[in-house]
Amino acid sequence: MNRYLIKGGKVIDPASGRSKTEDLLIEGSLIVERFSENRGVKTIEAGGLIVTPGLIDLHVHLREPGREDAETVISGTRAAAAGGFTTVCCMPNTDPAIDSVSVVEQINDQSKQSLIDVKVIAAITKKREGKALTEMGELVDAGVVAFSDDGAPVADSQLMRSAMEYAKTFNRPIVDHAEDLLLAAGGIMNEGYYSTILGLKGIPAAAEEVIVARDTLLAKLTGAKIHIAHISTAGSVDIIKRAKEDGLSVTCETTPHHLALTDESLCDYNTDYKVNPPLRSMGDIDRLFEGLKEGTIDAIATDHAPHARHEKEAEIEVAPFGMIGLETAVPVLINTAKKYGLKLEDLIPKLTVGPARVIGLEAGTLEVGSNADVTIIDAKAKVKVDSSIFESKSRNTPFEGKDLTGSIKHVFKGGKQIVIDGSVI
Ligand code: DOR
Repeated sequence: MNRYLIKGGKVIDPASGRSKTEDLLIEGSLIVERFSENRGVKTIEAGGLIVTPGLIDLHVHLREPGREDAETVISGTRAAAAGGFTTVCCMPNTDPAIDSVSVVEQINDQSKQSLIDVKVIAAITKKREGKALTEMGELVDAGVVAFSDDGAPVADSQLMRSAMEYAKTFNRPIVDHAEDLLLAAGGIMNEGYYSTILGLKGIPAAAEEVIVARDTLLAKLTGAKIHIAHISTAGSVDIIKRAKEDGLSVTCETTPHHLALTDESLCDYNTDYKVNPPLRSMGDIDRLFEGLKEGTIDAIATDHAPHARHEKEAEIEVAPFGMIGLETAVPVLINTAKKYGLKLEDLIPKLTVGPARVIGLEAGTLEVGSNADVTIIDAKAKVKVDSSIFESKSRNTPFEGKDLTGSIKHVFKGGKQIVIDGSVI
């Protein structure tokens, strides 16, 4: 049986309120209080390191089926492991879309061979066309954890109402991509000063906020659980704060890139900064950080969106939206949070217990008896982002060449060490 003594690290377990320097013990697949016997114990020296529950990402694009040139379940989950994640939720904007039991089963089969857990988020509507609901009951039986048409909103409010009503009966959240397509039409970047001087069509904050507001009203009408994906604006934080105060089952996530980058980054027309929702203003970032601190924002998710190089190398108007994020999330967060007086420790809840609660997952804790999903982070290591060594098949990162602080040292999944000294096994 595997036995690991993770020695002298700073153990941060927000679920149990633990935050102190102590040893953590893994025996077999579980966290234990003491070993049943001391044979074969391997010691991991964790002095000066942070020991957290394995990170959970509610929002990744694994591109399988259909775009295996950009990512696969295997490559995407290796990228996740390298980034410290032990569970990811994959989005259904694949080809074909994840809108049927057979596609869910295909992904479930693939994920059996992956190092970490993959939870499937199925489409709300068939082919993600926004016209007819999927067979939600069958998809729940196949194990999906939530429903989303991510990449696109469900524009038809009547259909969204029905989706919420069904999702409620199955006790699954609806994860909405909040974008009013008519308001956003043709937009490339945030609408504001920089879109004006760059001569690029803008996407106003209201394009997001209109749908966030609508969804909270529908959550009130239906009593369903809704989760708003990748929020990017101050106004979205305000709307969700109020919905929470009104007692609605509304949760939300933001992303490392929306916390770290502004629309000014688009000034050299680099398509790696083109993302949907777009990078916003400094004022929006300030409010997102407040939203994290006050508890309005429940989770930080990467929205890891791999794209083939030839597609991103197109003109900015035609290049696809999206950036990869799994392998840079932790250092990007450490560096950006510093400016707001926050440490990685303060954000760990948003990467562990927070996302676990959104989808009702029994993970994201280091309590004795729980699965030994553990991530060990050197929050002081200096790193230079070098996408050529990424596990992801894609290279569309806006952080290429950046000097950051923070690296993933070791990761355990169910008691098995899957990252050793920064390398995925
Ligand atoms: O930038 C984005 N890329 N936003 C989305 O909502 C979808 C994603 C993708 O799939 O590439």
